[in-house]
Amino acid sequence: MSETLPPRVCPFHGDASVNEPGPMTRVTLRSGQEVWAASRHADVRTVLTDPAFSSDRGHPNFPLPNGRRFKRDQFKPSLIMMDPPEHGPARRAVVGEFTVKRLASLGPRIQEIVDEHIDAMLASPDRTADLVHALAQPVPSLVICEQLGVPYEDHEFFQSRSKTLLSNRATPDEVRGASDELRAYMDKLVSTKEAVPTDDLLGRQIRKHRAEGTEDHDALVSLATLLLIAGHETTANMISLGTLALLRNPDQLAVLRADPSKTLSAVEELLREFTIAEFVTSRVAVADTVVGGVEVKAGEGVLTLGNAANHDPDVFADPNQLDISRGARNHIAFGYGAHQCLGQNLARVELQIVFDTLFARVPTLRVAVPVSELPFKDDASVYGLHSLPVTW
Ligand code: HEM
Repeated sequence: MSETLPPRVCPFHGDASVNEPGPMTRVTLRSGQEVWAASRHADVRTVLTDPAFSSDRGHPNFPLPNGRRFKRDQFKPSLIMMDPPEHGPARRAVVGEFTVKRLASLGPRIQEIVDEHIDAMLASPDRTADLVHALAQPVPSLVICEQLGVPYEDHEFFQSRSKTLLSNRATPDEVRGASDELRAYMDKLVSTKEAVPTDDLLGRQIRKHRAEGTEDHDALVSLATLLLIAGHETTANMISLGTLALLRNPDQLAVLRADPSKTLSAVEELLREFTIAEFVTSRVAVADTVVGGVEVKAGEGVLTLGNAANHDPDVFADPNQLDISRGARNHIAFGYGAHQCLGQNLARVELQIVFDTLFARVPTLRVAVPVSELPFKDDASVYGLHSLPVTW
């Protein structure tokens, strides 16, 4: 490996992200707000399980990178913004859609989608492609569209709005506009499905809630919007970063190629290594509590620096080494506690199929430009790559 990857930039204050764990510290956000930053594995897990912390993004002190407040009276909160007692029943109503068994049944269709996109990529006459555009973005996007029952033809519309929502360079007005447009789109789609429920996640939710007498149009619009954004932005970034990391670590790629049963373990290690969604797990204290020996007062915000926590030497030996055999199951790339990622099994299935298929079908794959020319997503609250030029 010649060049090291560039340091990540914190979307909250624009400086280099903390990637080494340490005691609880105070940091000042770009907005001027002072918050706590938890970076040790144990401290982050404490924040994510202590009932003194809230996920309510409508709270005036909730740390948000683009400074926009979510107003509770504007629309129904989605799962990720709920606290008990609201969160548990809302999550239980949809968790059956994401069981390992149900997702395993999607495997053949995901394989078909991956194969079709690799076929199209390999048809490039000059043997080059942008892996983000050719594979990383369309695969998870198609999968979540089919699962939810959202027309994939509209992907340019909802991908551009999702990008604005996750961008920390967008103004609060731009973020509000993108959010309103996305909700209006979902509102219409959910209404169509309410008239004639289809055989997809949204149609099944409508039938289930109707049978139980708990139908709630606005809540379903919020859930659908969250799943659509969470379902494609995150996994897409892990496909491009994971491919880059494996190509830059040929010894690890050789281990994977020699023994495909190692792919799942490789996926966990790549999730740990990049911890792309660490800024999604911020919280605000709603009662006084203690984290890592430090008193956190009600009303104080906390950033949970998952990337640093996932490189905590007390938990992961030689943490800066990519080791696909380490069995990194106790990473917190999917969060921890009640809000732990609902779509994690789907992400695992997608990543496993993509890496297995890509490296088997394109054995000469390599990155086409120096690392210093790669556009990393330093402008977004979910880390990734805007493009990844490859050749074979
Ligand atoms: C590599 C891919 C992914 C990563 C790294 C990731 C990361 C995360 C993280 C860190 C959280 C916790 C948020 C918190 O504590 O506030 C979360 C929650 C969530 N994720 Fe994911 N995610 C991924 C893929 C997906 C997919 C594919 C879906 C949907 C199909 C999804 C749906 C959700 C939902 C609905 C929640 C909220 C759960 C709740 O609040 O109960 N995610 N994700």
